[in-house]
Amino acid sequence: MAKSEEIVYINSEGKRVDGRKVDELRPIKIVPSVLSRAEGSAYIEWGQNKALVGVFGPREALPQHIQDPTKALVNYVYRMATFSVPDRKSPKPGRREIEISKVSGEALERAIFVERFPNTTIDIYVYLFDSNAGTRCAALTAASVALADAGIPMRDLVSACAVGRAAGTIILDPCKAEEDASDAVDMPLAIMPRTKEVVLLQMDGLIGKEEWKKAFELGIKGCLQVYEIQKKALKRKYEEIAEEEEKTIKQIDKELKKVEKK
Ligand code: CDP
Repeated sequence: MAKSEEIVYINSEGKRVDGRKVDELRPIKIVPSVLSRAEGSAYIEWGQNKALVGVFGPREALPQHIQDPTKALVNYVYRMATFSVPDRKSPKPGRREIEISKVSGEALERAIFVERFPNTTIDIYVYLFDSNAGTRCAALTAASVALADAGIPMRDLVSACAVGRAAGTIILDPCKAEEDASDAVDMPLAIMPRTKEVVLLQMDGLIGKEEWKKAFELGIKGCLQVYEIQKKALKRKYEEIAEEEEKTIKQIDKELKKVEKK
């Protein structure tokens, strides 16, 4: 690959390395209810990023000494497959995975009505199979859909999206090449969209106050677009169930008519 200095991050038409506009997300596809053994689940494709989330619980937190009589524990586990990155990753969870698990779990805890489920744990397992930057946001976005799929009561969904800077330009949803720019800034952001409450905000790189404001505003816009995609994915699931039910009812009606004729 060419050195980052040789890359044209924004071309004369205002397009980025992967052809996107500065305020454009990568294509996002979310499919809820993909795992039969989980209470809730979701699969997400966000550009090249691919992740699967399974939600289990609320169930009794064990061993008992970890229980909190005032709320459910949110146990978020983010893991990357060994083959999900260019250089094979050790299967042992590293500091990065532990940090992402911690901050993502805390973000979701703000949304979940944890106080309704004392002494329990809500386990959220996220596995990344392919990656190209922005995986913590993709994972968090899918996890929130999986929680809704599990029917766990929440104040709102959590919608996440990173914003950043490459070659002096503020860009939405940076890809890996952009994250590797010499002046790169990467700012993962997650909100509860109804109130716009920020539940996760991290920053890698240095940025001035005015640029930060611009980046934050663009990040919020990105999260709101992600929110619409999440809602559509959940709605589609119920539409499919309704279609299936309608088909079954029609079939039963047909059978009944046959019986009546006899
Ligand atoms: O993925 P995200 O942007 O949330 O986290 P990051 O720590 O900024 O990582 C950016 C990207 O670096 C990941 O999405 C992976 O594609 C890549 N990476 C890698 O190649 N090897 C690792 N051990 C970890 C991350």
